[in-house]
Amino acid sequence: MNFADTEVVMGILKNKGYEITENIDNANVIFLNTCSIRDNAEQRIYGRLGNIKTHKDTRPDTVIGILGCMAERLRKDLIEDKKIVDIVVGPDEYRRLPEFIDEAFAGEKGIGVKLSRTETYDDILPYREDGLNAWLSVMRGCDKFCTFCVVPFTRGRERSRNLDSIVEEVKQLSVRNFREVTLLGQNVNSYNDEGRDFADLLAACAEVDPLLRIRYTTSHPQDLNDKLLETMAKYDNICKYIHLPVQSGSNRVLELMNRTYTIEHYLTIIDKARELMPGVSFSTDIIAGFPTETDEDHQKTLDIMAKVRYDGAYMFKYSPREGTKAWKMGDDVPEEVKTRRLTEIIDLQQKISAEINQAGIGNEEVVLVEGFSKKSKEFLSGRTDTNKIAIIPNVDNIKPGDYVRIKIHRATSATLFGDILEVIGDGKKEVQLTA
Ligand code: 5AD
Ligand code: SF4
Repeated sequence: MNFADTEVVMGILKNKGYEITENIDNANVIFLNTCSIRDNAEQRIYGRLGNIKTHKDTRPDTVIGILGCMAERLRKDLIEDKKIVDIVVGPDEYRRLPEFIDEAFAGEKGIGVKLSRTETYDDILPYREDGLNAWLSVMRGCDKFCTFCVVPFTRGRERSRNLDSIVEEVKQLSVRNFREVTLLGQNVNSYNDEGRDFADLLAACAEVDPLLRIRYTTSHPQDLNDKLLETMAKYDNICKYIHLPVQSGSNRVLELMNRTYTIEHYLTIIDKARELMPGVSFSTDIIAGFPTETDEDHQKTLDIMAKVRYDGAYMFKYSPREGTKAWKMGDDVPEEVKTRRLTEIIDLQQKISAEINQAGIGNEEVVLVEGFSKKSKEFLSGRTDTNKIAIIPNVDNIKPGDYVRIKIHRATSATLFGDILEVIGDGKKEVQLTA
């Protein structure tokens, strides 16, 4: 999400004549786009500010700005506590950045942290380097108010970007030979543009170009409906991969988290998706050590992992966030218990991922080739439809952007190794832009 927002910011600044530099020594303005989701994300930014302070000591006229959720959460404290910070701008005020930069060069500090009910930046073309994979925000904010989560406070109310502007941007990406677009939102399933829902959006994006894979994240289990699953099943270029955060396997904890679904409901979605799309893969988010979580609750989380058998998971220790409802519940699970539970969760997931990948040996997959493998130029690396890294021999002049059908001959928990069966679809495309 921040990566996509940074591209929006770069789009806004490019329109005003700013250039992007890879070399910090050439920069007149330095922005850090920040995340507040867990405490360690914020601590990393304080570390980065420490480095930048050394830079500013030697170049005092450099303008330093904090963007994103930390700007929203900490506001003027950042400017008061961290003397090197000149500008603090939250996620809905990026249009004002050029104005803030001018003021900062004139010696005035600037704070823009108003949240909007309507801002979607739909008329701003994000600045993207040429490449294969693009992120594209289709909505902003979140109305779910999970009790542990700071997002509704830092990113504001939920609002959807206009469907036609999204499709137009997808067309432009296709013309530029991008091969994969990930549609982004905190809860994409509640996308709504004057009655057009997320399934409608997904179908419209998939229609643009059969060689352009469409992915999306993140789904909320309460709002994921059959129409969406049916749309996914209908289009070959919508990846058969669903990120469906479960957070906990205990209904008691889910209720305290205000997740608004039960494990039983969650499992009906998994079953339905597997019925409509055999081979669909799932990933999830899990929090270990939410307030009052018992060993029994934790065991239920391990149980749901074993039942669903996720292909992958993002696993976190609970991190109390000031201002959230869970903050008031206290943080009563001791650190060493959180660590133990998280380790058990990670170990189980690794075992499951390895087993799933091992069981896939002999299967055929279509891989989008992305570049050389990290280890050797004799191999290429790509991703399967289900978002797994696959390594194949670098032969037959295969290029990044080609689709290759492979047969898996070896697998670890993180990587598949395959033999090439055929190279498909490096095709030139005809896509009409409407604007
Ligand atoms: N502590 C730990 N993890 C959190 N997440 C969100 N807020 C917190 C928190 N306070 C996790 C959730 C969410 C993912 C993006 O981050 O699992 O799905
Ligand atoms: Fe946070 Fe819940 Fe919204 Fe996700 S759905 S962004 S966890 S409040």
